[in-house]
This record gives sequence, structure tokens and C-alpha cells, in this order.
Amino acid sequence: MNDRLLSLVSALNENGSLSVEEYEYLIENRTPDLSERLHRLALEKRRSVYGDEVYIRGLIEISNICKNDCFYCGIRKSNKECQRYRLSPSDILNCADEGYSLGFRTFVLQGGEDLYFTDEVLGEVVSEIKRRYPDCAVTLSLGERCDGSYKYLKDAGADRYLLRHESAVKSHYEMLHPKEMSYENRMRCLETLRALGYQVGCGFMVGSPYQTANILAHELKFVETFRPDMCGIGPFIPHCATPFKNMSAGTLEMTCFLLSVIRLIHPRVLLPATTALGTVAPDGREKGLLSGANVVMPNLSPTSVRKKYELYDNKICTGEESAQCVECLRRRVESVGFKVVTSRGDVKK
Ligand code: 5AD
Ligand code: FES
Repeated sequence: MNDRLLSLVSALNENGSLSVEEYEYLIENRTPDLSERLHRLALEKRRSVYGDEVYIRGLIEISNICKNDCFYCGIRKSNKECQRYRLSPSDILNCADEGYSLGFRTFVLQGGEDLYFTDEVLGEVVSEIKRRYPDCAVTLSLGERCDGSYKYLKDAGADRYLLRHESAVKSHYEMLHPKEMSYENRMRCLETLRALGYQVGCGFMVGSPYQTANILAHELKFVETFRPDMCGIGPFIPHCATPFKNMSAGTLEMTCFLLSVIRLIHPRVLLPATTALGTVAPDGREKGLLSGANVVMPNLSPTSVRKKYELYDNKICTGEESAQCVECLRRRVESVGFKVVTSRGDVKK
């Protein structure tokens, strides 16, 4: 490791900040030794804030119907092979009931941009979950909605909102999305969510098509300046029925490297070891935890629909990653030196 790399690592560890050029240098010149050092520092930081606790979230995939056509996504509207489904409000509440008995205290309602889920329908579901389980947090991950809608859902009781920004560089954002979607609107949604008092999550795919080290450096700068409460990153994985079917996938190595850098930028951020990471390698999520991640989000959706919520090929499902197998999950988490806790797991402010 050269002197410049060493001094960048200490600066990052001490100040949580580097310039875009410095992030880019770190990314381009990383070596296994450097990553090793970053993982170690990230674990120390994570321990100083969250100890050895890992938070779990019950993920309920409420619908794979989507009006958008993102080039990377398996549930894009142009994918005619996708078998569409939508959970009813009572299906969703049943998932939450099951999740609560399994020990989950955060429910994440995730889905495509499905117009069936109006403010009224969603508001009812959110407030009913909060009525039944006042000790639980509700996280929404339902894409772009208007300001009034975000406000309505906040008032109904939603606590958090995940909306990956997908790319912090406008020209790159436009290579991943059709012209009906805009970078400006995405960013505006994130600002609105923050102003409304949600705990807000942003994020991006690692190794998405046309992503360069310079673009990744801008992602890190964005995470540094936006200061999200949560940050979802996972490898891009091609889906066979999308325009990006022949593009290569992001790597476990790069994802773990970035998880560590993000932990050093924001020691308090909630950082999931994602399903996509568990899909590129059998021990992907454990490696994510060992790089600084502190959240896992097992699937609580009914088994019958799990395979259909296919954002990318070979998504792991029905097996050990499911919420029903909290015991396997506990063992996996303990195997790398952490412990699963039953609590809302809010961001430490
Ligand atoms: N590979 C990896 N992640 C994907 N997502 C969508 N499609 C893919 C894919 N092919 C991610 C997006 C989205 C989140 C719900 O899943 O970043 O925001
Ligand atoms: Fe549904 Fe991207 S395809 S939001």
C-alpha cells in the first residue's frame, strides 16, 4: 500500500470525508490489503455505535406491478414474462402478524409503483399495523409519489422511507432509466421525505451498467453530503428479460469495499447486507456484516409470491433467507460474531 493510500484511509477514518478525486483514487487503486484495513476500521466504528447488534427487518413485497420501465429491473412494465401479483391489505396484515410473532419490530412494505396502492389504501394498512403493533416501525419502499402522498403516509404512521437514488450523476441516471423518469424528481422526493420527518434511505447498485470509478466517487460524495439514515447498496445482477440482460454483474468484493467506506463516512448509518449480496455469493451477507453492514432484511412475503418478485435473476428465496427461518439467520449472524436483536432498530442520532 503506498503512502497516499495510507493517508487517505486515515483521513477518511478521522474525518468521514474525502474529495471526489480522493474517493476515485481509493477505488481505482484498492488492493486486498487496503480493503482488509478498511473492513477492520469499519468494524471498529460500527462497534463503537451499535456494539455487536444486528437489526432485522421483515420485508413484505406487496406488489410487482409497476408503471415504470427501469432498464435494469425485472419487474419493469415491458417485461411481459413477469407473472404479476398484488397482495391485498389483509394479506399484508397477515404477513405483519406472522412477522410480529417471529420477533420482527420493523416491517418494510416494498413494491413497484402500482397505482392500486392509493394513499387511502396504503394509509389504512399503515395505520392498522401501527394500531396492532405500536412498538413497531413501518418502513415504506414504494418509489416516487407526490409530496402530498408522502405527507399523508407519514401522518398515517409511517416512520421510514427507502428510495434509492440509483445514481448521483444525472447523465448516468439517464442511462439506467427511460426518459419518463427524472433525476431531479428522484432527488426532490428524497428532500421532501427528509423534510417531512421520515428516517430516509438512499442507495445505489454496485457495478450497474456504465458505472465508472468516477461515478462511484460521486455516489460516495452524495452519501457524505445527503447524510441518509439508511443506505441500501447491493451488486447489480442482470435480469434475463431486461435490456441489460447481457451486462455483467457487480461484485461482492466491490460491494464490501464500499460498505466499509460508507461506514467510515457515516458511522451511524443503518447499512443492510442486502439480498442481492446474498445472491452473488452464498456467504455474501455475512461478508457484508464483516465489512460494516448492521441490518438484514429477510423476506416475509407469502411463499407463493416470492419467486415472482424477481428484480434480478436467481434471487435467493424460500430457503434460509426467509423470515420464517429466523433461527438460521441468528446462527449465521452469530457465526460472524454479532447478535440479532428484537427491537425497532432506529438510527442512533
Ligand atoms: N440488480 C440488483 N438490484 C436491482 N434493483 C433493481 N433491479 C436490480 C438488479 N437487476 C434494486 C434497485 C431498486 C431496489 C429495490 O432493487 O436499486 O431500487
Ligand atoms: Fe419499477 Fe423501476 S421498474 S420503479
